[in-house]
Amino acid sequence: MSKKLAAGNWKMNGLAASLAEIDALAGAVKGAGCEVLICPPAILIAQMAAKAKGSNVFVGGQDCHPKVSGAHTGDVAAAMLADAGASHVILGHSERRADHGESDADIRAKAEAAGAAGLVRIICVGETEGERDAGQTLAVIGTQLDGSVPDAATAADTVIAYEPVWAIGTGRTPTLEQIAEVHDFLRDRLTRRFGADARGMRLLYGGSVKPSNAAEIFAVSNVDGALVGGASLKAADFAGIVSALSAA
Ligand code: 13P
Repeated sequence: MSKKLAAGNWKMNGLAASLAEIDALAGAVKGAGCEVLICPPAILIAQMAAKAKGSNVFVGGQDCHPKVSGAHTGDVAAAMLADAGASHVILGHSERRADHGESDADIRAKAEAAGAAGLVRIICVGETEGERDAGQTLAVIGTQLDGSVPDAATAADTVIAYEPVWAIGTGRTPTLEQIAEVHDFLRDRLTRRFGADARGMRLLYGGSVKPSNAAEIFAVSNVDGALVGGASLKAADFAGIVSALSAA
């Protein structure tokens, strides 16, 4: 298994002035026992990557286009993210699935493009509250996983993030048993498809992770890190999560 991964998703937050957080974060996570990643808005990647150079903070994108280049106004290709200094990209976040109607097939195509550009792809899955209430959680996640993850995925180039939609930005988190149930299911399903290599594929939990609940979440079976929204915007909060993961 690669090192555990603490990934921050800044979403549509941050201006050039916010890059000061990276200086603070790089200082705070020196010697961390896990990988540390921040995914800012695309416009900040190059500047952030320049600042993070020489530190153990990786920089990533939040989306990419499936094509290499061409007439796709407003879009960013995977190779452009890599060229700007990104090493990872988040794909299929529930906000993109909802706001941009991204299907599992779209996400798989983006994941293939990301892999071709040498980026580690973090592919997100997760149920809505209605789906959980209807007892469909594992069925929904299984379909998303099968449809979104490329056939050539390996533990080295693919990370899966479980983000229950109802836990994102709400302060609500699933019980530790609910997280364990989904993460065990993901590990089993990936191992059936990809074999022993999938035992090393990192599975992140995301949704209202903060310094105060990180340690108990990281103690859950098959949780190999976190994908963090709000609490990744402030270096001090994110460093608290990194230190909980390093200690797990
Ligand atoms: P919050 O940590 O703000 O709940 O966001 C989670 C998320 O969507 C990360 O991708």
